[in-house]
Amino acid sequence: MAAHHLILLLLALIALSSSPAAFAADPNQLQDFCVADTNSNRNTANRLGSNVTLVFAQQFPGLNTLGVAGARLDFAAGGVNPPHTHPRATELLVVIKGTLYAGFVASTNKLYTKVLYEGDAFIFPQGLIHFQFNIGKTDAVAWASFGSQNPGRVDIANAVFGAKPPVSLYLLEKSFQLDEKTVELLQAKLWITNS
Ligand SMILES: *[C@@H]1O[C@H](CO)[C@@H](O)[C@H](O)[C@H]1NC(C)=O
Repeated sequence: MAAHHLILLLLALIALSSSPAAFAADPNQLQDFCVADTNSNRNTANRLGSNVTLVFAQQFPGLNTLGVAGARLDFAAGGVNPPHTHPRATELLVVIKGTLYAGFVASTNKLYTKVLYEGDAFIFPQGLIHFQFNIGKTDAVAWASFGSQNPGRVDIANAVFGAKPPVSLYLLEKSFQLDEKTVELLQAKLWITNS
């Protein structure tokens, strides 16, 4: 009788250990280690006067499955991070050095702006058009954190006037109250990105 019970117990243990319930937890999310160098200054000698170093899952595979991402923003004096959106993430910006004028346009078309000093934080809600501008006399550095491992970035001017193939000339004339020549001029420009 005792031996019979022991066999049943063993069978139960084997069944338990091989059942999916025993492995119900998510696998460990830590898949990789990588170090982002945020010390050395980035080159801001481009037309925008800014350099955005994306730390998204594509650049930093350690972020895979973790649902967060970051970016380092470097500005020359007078440099701008032009109007853009992140289709998949809200952004929390913290100024590390310098003075930035930052803002976003809400879906009501109301503009929210703030002058940010070292240590200040600002939020850009997911999908809304936003920008930063170094209004100080020195370089500025900021760090951005995102609530997605892959926030995406759409630069407004590049998307509207730099799309390939180009968006219809007629449609842009009507939409932006511009004449044909002005739209052609805008479409002929080289729309660079700072990231
Ligand atoms: C940003 O800075 C890095 C390092 O200095 C440089 O290699 C890169 O070309 C710069 N990007 C832009 C858009 O200027």
